[in-house]
Amino acid sequence: MTRTFPDGFLWGAATAAHQIEGNNLNNDWWKLEHDAARYGVQFSGDACDSYHRFDEDMKLLADAGLDAYRFSLEWSRIEPSPGKFSLAVLAHYRRMIDTALGLGLTPVVTLHHFTHPLWFGELGGWLGPDAPDLFCRYVEQACSVLDGVEWVCTINEPNVLALNHGALRRVAAGEPYPFDALPDPDFGEPLIAAHRAAAPMVRSVTRARVGWTVANQALVAAPGAEAKHAAVQHQWEDMYLDAARDDDFVGVQSYTSQTVDEHGIVAHPEHPDNTLMGWAYRADALGIAVRHTHEVLGDVPIVITENGIATADDERRIAYTGEALGHLGDAVDDGIDVRGYLHWSLLDNFEWGRWEPTFGLIEVDRTTFERRPKPSLAWLGSVARANALE
Ligand code: BGC
Repeated sequence: MTRTFPDGFLWGAATAAHQIEGNNLNNDWWKLEHDAARYGVQFSGDACDSYHRFDEDMKLLADAGLDAYRFSLEWSRIEPSPGKFSLAVLAHYRRMIDTALGLGLTPVVTLHHFTHPLWFGELGGWLGPDAPDLFCRYVEQACSVLDGVEWVCTINEPNVLALNHGALRRVAAGEPYPFDALPDPDFGEPLIAAHRAAAPMVRSVTRARVGWTVANQALVAAPGAEAKHAAVQHQWEDMYLDAARDDDFVGVQSYTSQTVDEHGIVAHPEHPDNTLMGWAYRADALGIAVRHTHEVLGDVPIVITENGIATADDERRIAYTGEALGHLGDAVDDGIDVRGYLHWSLLDNFEWGRWEPTFGLIEVDRTTFERRPKPSLAWLGSVARANALE
């Protein structure tokens, strides 16, 4: 059976600055990698050296037949100290956008992907009194290089950010790391305020469609746990989806699915099929996530801004992605407005403290920085060229 996707559907891959650029010395993740090294947290170091090799990365993507590239701008490079902006770094990101456009790739630009300048943390981070304003001051400068960009994501996965920062706050207060934490609304609220302030700003000075991206956990209620499921789903993702109601699109990011019972989210059961993240192999999660997003947001267009699998076996990556695209196609056939699919990730990259979980369509030799495309890159490229899945 051949399944065709809508005309103009975007096909691409996604990355994030800190995970691929290397040497982002001035952000909170770099600091955390050093502070937590004794717990086994690994260093991003040179990462994939994409700060210098972005053109090679984009060329591999375009040559394979894909037509979109989602990447992020690094706030800590653009604004190395409060209110002081680097024109050279802004010019660097402008070159990235021009390179993408020159290769026929639609750039999908994320303004914030998990990292913060160190000075932002010193001012209280997202709990600081001026956090949304500080973010907007940066966004205003970032907008100066966004001419010709049609898709902008303000903040990546604010819910995961609220989860991580909430957990770190509890650790700083002397509690053990809360592995079962939910996103902390104390962090969620200023993130929502920042998005709501930044989105109209970006819209007013660019021609971009503006949205943000939400981590969708495809939560499913165990029998009898419907009320708990609704409460957990609200705290996990719906409050962040609600904030996208007036947006031009919403980014859906999906990897796996979990059950909610009367105690909360059930940990992924041990299974030989679990991915290198320890997550259940659930290619059907993408369909659940898209349908749930549509239920909450009605007609707001959807872009799949991340979906993929951490595996050392590239055939499994192709199998997972093919299945996920089948579920996505079912949702599209049911009338849900989906505009594109951006695979996570273009490169094997720094998976936030770990190098082992490899999500890439391209392997990177971390000594020579040589790029070695995997068969999944050509496979996804052929799906993109046909705009159809066999
Ligand atoms: C993030 C990525 C991350 C991926 C896999 C998403 O939460 O946006 O930065 O690498 O999932 O864990």
